[in-house]
Amino acid sequence: MGIGRVLIVGSGGREHALAWACLRDAPDLSMIVAPGNGGTAGIAENVPIDVTDALAVARLAADREVDLVIIGPDAAAAAGVADACTARGILVFGPTAAAARIESSKTFAKQVMDSAGIPTARWRSGDATDRAGLSAFVAELGGRCVVKADGLALGKGVMVCSEVVEAEQALDQCLGELRFGDAGRHVVVEELLSGPEASVFGLSDGRNVRILVPARDHKRIFDGDRGPNTGGMGSIAPPPDAASDVFIEEVQRTVLGPCIEALRAQGCPFVGCLYAGLMLTPDGVRVLEFNARFGDPETQVVLPLLDESLLDILTGCARGEVAAGVASAAPGTAVGVVAAAAGYPGDVRRGDVI
Ligand code: AMP
Ligand code: GLY
Repeated sequence: MGIGRVLIVGSGGREHALAWACLRDAPDLSMIVAPGNGGTAGIAENVPIDVTDALAVARLAADREVDLVIIGPDAAAAAGVADACTARGILVFGPTAAAARIESSKTFAKQVMDSAGIPTARWRSGDATDRAGLSAFVAELGGRCVVKADGLALGKGVMVCSEVVEAEQALDQCLGELRFGDAGRHVVVEELLSGPEASVFGLSDGRNVRILVPARDHKRIFDGDRGPNTGGMGSIAPPPDAASDVFIEEVQRTVLGPCIEALRAQGCPFVGCLYAGLMLTPDGVRVLEFNARFGDPETQVVLPLLDESLLDILTGCARGEVAAGVASAAPGTAVGVVAAAAGYPGDVRRGDVI
């Protein structure tokens, strides 16, 4: 059966890029984005919804006789949107809540990485009751560590530390002051690595992986890298130091393949976009994090280079029949720049004319 109507869940630039790419492949597609944004309004029908209300999303998909649901944000995946759609017999690209733990719990992700032999920073996790052990690990690392809230914290729950006092303060903020709320009641402390970063997206049907061209986002705001970290001020694809066939093959063999295999073996096969956040350290590639979704803003530079049908790949994943391998990419590079509201990444001024 062909795909005639698609529902994309989410409201970011990522969802606009996904809608744009699907319509590029299939201009006659009927496209709904929920809730969508000003950009998607120009190419699709926006429908207001709470993306974490899994039953409401599944109901919308059923009412509108959607052939394929594509999940954008991590919060929707973690809330069980895929589970709710599958329960209604609706084809969905996006992980179940169980599989999405690879992003929604950093401890779970670390355990999967260790069990599968995936290269990552040395780590220890715990809550307030494990404070002594966490502090001992901080001391062992000489304070050169990263303190991460275990749960979803809108990309803000990571504190990079270079001294013991700083790391102890970070632990206080997470475990004592609950700066990240419940997401930070449990933390992961890991060794500080260094090197350029790369984001690699593997689109999986739970068994096979189709890899897209690598990308890199730019985290700091303001010229000359003088501002704080953000969700991403822009992105490029492919990064010159992370573009070779050898690199992509290594990421598939040592990172994406083993992770997909481990999740399947644990009874929670991952269907969707497995995003490997990598650091190219002097000792080789290390995984900083896995995300259970397309990255934003990377998606905005990866999809324009994709030289095959995104809709076919996503449908293949949802149906459990995607072809393994590296997806063809157009030659050349893509660059995306974010225009942020005044005040970003702090409290932003809303309503300014774009
Ligand atoms: P994460 O959400 O885990 O990817 O962390 C967000 C950002 O924090 C990454 O993109 C890195 O810039 C930085 N980061 C995370 N883990 C480490 C680490 N072990 N060493 C150095 N930087 C890190
Ligand atoms: N660009 C970083 C992320 O999507 O998590």
